[in-house]
Formats: sequence, C-alpha cells, structure tokens
Amino acid sequence: MIDTIATVESNLELTPGYKLLTLNFKEAIAAKAGQFAMLKAHDTFEPLLRRALAIYRIENSNQLSFLYQVLGRGTQMLSHLDSGGKVDILLPLGNCWLDEPLQKTGLGSKALVVAGGIGSASVYLLCQELQRRQIETQIFFGAANRKVATGCGLDDFKKLALPITLTTDDGSLGERGFVTAPLEKFLREGKGENATIYTCGPWVMMKRVAEIAEGFAIKCLASLEAPMGCGFGVCVGCVVAIKDADAKSYQAYQRVCTDGSIFPAEIIRWEVTAMAH
Ligand SMILES: Cc1cc2nc3c(=O)[nH]c(=O)nc-3n(C[C@H](O)[C@H](O)[C@H](O)COP(=O)(O)OP(=O)(O)OC[C@H]3O[C@@H](n4cnc5c(N)ncnc54)[C@H](O)[C@@H]3O)c2cc1C
Ligand code: FES
Repeated sequence: MIDTIATVESNLELTPGYKLLTLNFKEAIAAKAGQFAMLKAHDTFEPLLRRALAIYRIENSNQLSFLYQVLGRGTQMLSHLDSGGKVDILLPLGNCWLDEPLQKTGLGSKALVVAGGIGSASVYLLCQELQRRQIETQIFFGAANRKVATGCGLDDFKKLALPITLTTDDGSLGERGFVTAPLEKFLREGKGENATIYTCGPWVMMKRVAEIAEGFAIKCLASLEAPMGCGFGVCVGCVVAIKDADAKSYQAYQRVCTDGSIFPAEIIRWEVTAMAH
C-alpha cells in the first residue's frame, strides 16, 4: 500500500459528467484487476476524506487511469484538475478478481462479466486479464443510455474484441432494458456451463445478478460499493451485512475496503443495502 502524491497526465471528459483521469507516479505501482484507490485533489482541505475509485487501466507501472462519474464534492474537485495537477492517493487497495481465496475452486472455463453503469471501471482490467489467460469471456454491458455508455468506457471495452452484449435503459444503444435480461436469456439457453459471473454496478442490479446466478447454480463474484472513510480497514464505515446465522453483531458484517471489495455474491445480504448502515 503506497500513500503518495501523483501528477495528472490528463483528465479527459468522455461524455458530460464522466471523466478519465490518468495519473503519473514517481514509484512503480503493482496493481491487479479489481483493486481500487482512495484519492482526492491535493492541497484542498474540503473534502477531508479521499474517495474510492477502481483502478480502471494500467498504462504502465508508473501510470494508471481512473474512470469516474462526477457526483459530489470529491469527484467535482478531481474533475477540475488539469495536466500537472496533484492528487493525494492511497493504493492499491482491496482484493483481486482472479486471486485466491475468491477463486478457491479454480477458474471456470467461461467468464460472464456483467457491468452496469460506472461499475464498468472495476471490470475492464478483469476483461483484459481473462483475455490474456484465454478464458472464454462474454461481456454484458448495460448503461442508462448511449451517452452514459460512452462515459463508462464502452469504446475501450469494444477495442478488447471480446463478445459484448449491450443494453440501454432507453434503447438508444443495443437492446432496450436492463442488462440482467440478456444474461438470464444466455443462461436459459444453457450457455453458462462451468461459468463464473463477475459483476459490478448498481446495488439493485448486482442483487438481481446474484439471484440469477443462484437460480442457475453458477458461481458469482460481485464488487461492492460502500461509502468509505479510510479505505484500509480502520473506520468500519464501509461494512456490509453478510449471511452468518451464528455470528453476533459486528461478526455479521464485513468491511468492503479490506474484506472486499469483491465478495462471493451468495454471502451478501442483498436486502440490506450498503448505504443502509
Ligand atoms: C471500492 C469502490 C470503487 C469505486 N470505484 C468507482 C469508480 O471507478 N468510478 C466511480 O465513478 N465511482 C466509483 N466508486 C464510487 C465513488 O467512490 C463515489 O461515487 C464517490 O465517493 C462520490 O464522492 P463525491 O465526493 O463525488 O460525492 P459525495 O458528495 O460523497 O456523494 C454524492 C452522492 O453520491 C452518492 N454516493 C456517494 N458515495 C457513493 C458510493 N460509494 N456508492 C454509491 N453512491 C455513492 C450518494 O448518493 C451521495 O449523496 C467506487 C466506490 C467504491 C467503494
Ligand atoms: S473505509 Fe474505513 S474500514 Fe473500510
């Protein structure tokens, strides 16, 4: 884990409200698919706490990119940074999609990657790595509309040349509707044998993906989002409820930052959202 100040190489607007931030580091960063960073614009007191962003692309060992949606104070401050600007950053954090213990039963022969909205940021490196390992991969990429899909890195995903099923809520690109519909259809057609589902997106979407996976008895890993204070396990602000009938109080919770952010979907109590604590 490195706590450092990185320099902005570029901060490009992909579509209004969605940006790609590329940072240069003095030191080499060893990051893996699924990990994240805590970052904030340097030299600003407000906001005090850093914000969590997935490591989207590794340009080289000294240069990483982050794809982000401009929402509130933290991401707005980041969005104002130009080339040469400074960012306070802590990384790499969290577990990795393809490492033990998440893959304790081994990698499936097939990967189904389900990305919803800006959740795409957490799975781009995963898709690259699956491709490198020659694992048959099908991407399901859902967004609210065509513009949001562009903001969520669709062009990068297309360049991977992996099979991709697109959905938009308004039908402006790909199939109209939620991304979970073609996933379910795919599995109903019997194409999910020995597959693992990897998902990141809005809580309701992942909840549905988890239900579908359970229905077809398919292993499913989900990268969760929770508002984070520290990012390294100290503040307990990021906990999620897990299924553990025997556990008492805190034991029935796990920290998204250090126990995750990726969890086996079947252990999450999806009816209790991360925002509800
Ligand atoms: C492990 C992890 C990885 C993430 N990766 C990315 C990423 O790659 N790209 C990206 O754009 N975002 C990502 N997020 C979400 C991102 O951290 C929040 O959008 C960000 O903290 C918002 O900060 P803000 O100061 O802009 O907004 P704030 O002022 O803090 O919040 C504005 C509004 O955004 C919503 N919000 C805030 N935090 C979250 C959250 N964690 N989840 C859902 N809604 C939230 C709330 O409705 C809030 O009212 C990730 C979160 C986690 C935990
Ligand atoms: S963010 Fe502080 S414990 Fe997870």
